[in-house]
Amino acid sequence: MPRKFFVGGNFKMNGLLADIDRIVDHLNASHLDPNTEVLISPPAIYLLHVRDRVKKGIEVAAQNCYSEKQGAFTGEISPLQIADSRIPWVIIGHSERRTLFGDHDHVVAEKVKAALEEGLNIILCVGETLEQREKGETLKVVEHQLDCVKKEVPAWAEVADRIVIAYEPVWAIGTGRVATASQAQEVHSDTRTWLASRVGKEAAENTRIIYGGSVSAKNCQELATQPDLDGFLVGGASLKPEFVDIINSHL
Ligand code: G3H
Repeated sequence: MPRKFFVGGNFKMNGLLADIDRIVDHLNASHLDPNTEVLISPPAIYLLHVRDRVKKGIEVAAQNCYSEKQGAFTGEISPLQIADSRIPWVIIGHSERRTLFGDHDHVVAEKVKAALEEGLNIILCVGETLEQREKGETLKVVEHQLDCVKKEVPAWAEVADRIVIAYEPVWAIGTGRVATASQAQEVHSDTRTWLASRVGKEAAENTRIIYGGSVSAKNCQELATQPDLDGFLVGGASLKPEFVDIINSHL
């Protein structure tokens, strides 16, 4: 079965209630490609509100979670609470979490494990810095990030249908400097090879590997032609009406 195209909008820490409503209402009123899985990820405080306002067919994701179920962890939300709130997805390992909030590889891996245990679906973000790319370390870095998760989730093959991998080169995030289609394809193809050897053939064939980093209505069509690119994780442009064009880039 072909992999269903997947487009997520990560609002990051943007928008007040009125802005979020405007974005959701615009999505609700738009024709969205029925063959694309669509998800939006508002700031945590708006998750329940968005869950109740968004039309059927658009899913909602938390932008982060902690690895414990509950306890004295001020400011955190747990996978158990996310699942209890009927939010089916969580983004884990976003580079902003990794660089600004100390979510190192092991922390990311523990969060993935905990979220999977609560039955959540995961968007697992990986990607290299500019310095790592310039040193020719891109594939090694991405494979290492995936290896760390595999170590914590040895039964990945059993939950592979609940994991979407987002390749997000750090140098492309919020910079307007999008990866070329061939740069993205190289990493996506290598990631699929990693899946085949470390997780299994079926997971390699079925896992959606999406791209994030300065995706816009202008560049999404060319990226979408790449054989191993199964969608996008969109930041800035997901706050704008052009998000609909990105969702429909596969039409
Ligand atoms: O999660 C989304 C990525 O960080 C991409 O953000 O589209 O603003 O570059 P961006």
